[in-house]
Amino acid sequence: MEEELKQIVESAKSGVNGVSNRAGFEAFKAEITGPNGSLTKVMKGMGKVAKEDRPIFGKLINQAKQQVQAVYDEAMSVIEAAEIAEKLGPAIDPSLPSPDSGPGSFHPLTQVREEICSIFKQIGFTVAEGTEVETEYYCFDALNTPKDHPARDLQDTFYMPDDADFANVSKKSDERYLLRTHTSSVQIRTMLKEKPPLRIISPGRCFRRDTVDATHSANFHQVEGLYVDKNVTVRDLKAILDYFFEQLLGKGTTTRFRPHFFPYTEPSFEVDFSSKHLAKLGSDWVEIAGCGMVEPEVFSSVGYDPEVYSGFAFGMGIERIAMIIYGIDDIRYFYQNDRRFLNQFA
Ligand code: DAH
Repeated sequence: MEEELKQIVESAKSGVNGVSNRAGFEAFKAEITGPNGSLTKVMKGMGKVAKEDRPIFGKLINQAKQQVQAVYDEAMSVIEAAEIAEKLGPAIDPSLPSPDSGPGSFHPLTQVREEICSIFKQIGFTVAEGTEVETEYYCFDALNTPKDHPARDLQDTFYMPDDADFANVSKKSDERYLLRTHTSSVQIRTMLKEKPPLRIISPGRCFRRDTVDATHSANFHQVEGLYVDKNVTVRDLKAILDYFFEQLLGKGTTTRFRPHFFPYTEPSFEVDFSSKHLAKLGSDWVEIAGCGMVEPEVFSSVGYDPEVYSGFAFGMGIERIAMIIYGIDDIRYFYQNDRRFLNQFA
């Protein structure tokens, strides 16, 4: 009997190699420990064993049962691993790029911002930064914007609660914090830090209490420009903007200045451009920027002598430029993170 048990265990060990799924496993098990299985038969034969030999045979059978169980356990874990592997699909190498997304790319607004900056950098402008949380001083007061100006209205500007505290933006006690409504605040921040001459552009996010629709967004982006030196005139302003728009939109692009009003420039203009490369715009002239000669009051508020220095400033919306260049008809696409949209600029 001892020999028989050894053989049963051996044949279980070799027979298990042919088992590859649960059905095969059950059949294999039945052959050994099923009602008519080889081991079951030996156990049934115990009755015939002499009484005094039973403890020894009982021990041998138990040993055999344990060995067979170990074979079962091993076979089952192999089957389960195979089932999991099948569910997971082909083996993955986590160090490879994800198969379902292409290489990353810059957001269209970033691409346009970088293009604008690179054009200005080539003609000596540097990029200046400001803060998105601003005070009334930088956003309005120092820019010669009177207390009752409509842009300061609660309906147009996001003001912070009175107890808001932004350690990195210092403010006077009677001022409020707000989200900047334009990048023009960076003009003040830069002039307070640096002496003229100055040539900066400043791209950045701005906020207005606008109702969101195809052309309005409560958060949007602008690029501000500021040029301060001796003897700067409107001719320089016009030449720089003409050059910029020609670089951005192609040769044959021209600008037109229309008189306008901004509190921080005098004279002030709205800038339209016309470009044969953008035939589908629907009209000959498209409004694109605001600009003017820096108001002497603004120079005085930052300690520049308006008798010595003159300069120009301009500001334009990055979304608007991107929409024109790419023919996008709804500003909301920029913020929805829809890859069908974004992939077109990858
Ligand atoms: N800040 C203006 C706006 O948000 C744009 C602008 C106009 C900026 C004239 C300027 C400027 O620097 O001189 O609409």
